[in-house]
Amino acid sequence: MGYLETTAQVYAEAAETPQVGLCCISGPPLQLPGLKIPEIMHQMNYGCGSTVHPIELVGEPTVLYIGVGGGIEALQFAYFCRRTGGVVAVDPVPQMREAAARNLQLATADNSWFEPDFVQILAGDAFVLPVPDASVDVVAQNCLFNIFEPEDLRRALLEAYRVLKPNGRLIMSDPIASRSIPPHLQQDERLRALCLSGALTYAEYIDHLVAIGFGQIEIRARRPYRLLDTYSYNLDAPLLLQSLDTVSFKVPIPEDGACVFTGKTATYCGQESLLDDRAGHLLQRGIPLAVCDKTAAKFALQFPQDVLITDSTWHYTGGGCC
Ligand SMILES: C[S@@+](CC[C@H](N)C(=O)[O-])C[C@H]1O[C@@H](n2cnc3c(N)ncnc32)[C@H](O)[C@@H]1O
Repeated sequence: MGYLETTAQVYAEAAETPQVGLCCISGPPLQLPGLKIPEIMHQMNYGCGSTVHPIELVGEPTVLYIGVGGGIEALQFAYFCRRTGGVVAVDPVPQMREAAARNLQLATADNSWFEPDFVQILAGDAFVLPVPDASVDVVAQNCLFNIFEPEDLRRALLEAYRVLKPNGRLIMSDPIASRSIPPHLQQDERLRALCLSGALTYAEYIDHLVAIGFGQIEIRARRPYRLLDTYSYNLDAPLLLQSLDTVSFKVPIPEDGACVFTGKTATYCGQESLLDDRAGHLLQRGIPLAVCDKTAAKFALQFPQDVLITDSTWHYTGGGCC
């Protein structure tokens, strides 16, 4: 059996018997006024962070959700879309699709704003999405793509890119690894399916997104997720996994490279009132400006005395100069 079949089997079991803590989310689920999440959806919350960012969801976007799980994020997205088929959720595991449909039906009792047809659940997988080119505003996946081996990850990202409209957003949450995961763990299909051994390093993860063509990437959260200890995982030293929440925009990659916002700021501290770098950035003395990592590196090189660069916060939510 290949790792994709093992994954399908793991999630067929997790659909039939909810496994609290299977993916062990690293933050509380997003609560919203008037939204009541059924208990079973909490128990089947198999994500590692959150992909539901209200600022990406203005203007009634069309959302394609890959890997529906128990339906918790599909319900949260529907809260913003509120129309028939506003959210399309795709999953290859029949038991998971049935569980999500049941859970969404339950949600109607406590959520007067919600109709089950706001979420359309379709059979399909991340590699062949059942929607036309450039047809959705948002593609989201939580704790699935980290399971994929690199070539499958590339296929899944290309497919997400294909279905996004220009300026559309790919919103993801996945574990990343503090160093390369050794082959004996990477090759363990069950650990991979449980989101414990397929994770890439941060740099590899971002490189995959840029290689597909995403011109702007924003880091929304980066938190400790799990520790692979030396005893259980046969490691020389413990290996920390973190959950990484990102939003990647389908915009052209600038000539000098993609903009990756990690929460850095640049502040001019020289003698003039303004600093113009003649590359489109105007810094007012004493006022921090959010900058992407590429611009932060250029400022640090060009103006080492006059521009103060702050560290990545790993919690960037918009604004900035690029
Ligand atoms: C770790 S769970 C995450 C579920 C959900 N996103 C959440 O946050 O609770 C992975 C989900 O992806 C589904 N899945 C497995 N293989 C898939 C594939 N190749 N394409 C799309 N979904 C897949 C599983 O059935 C399961 O629902």
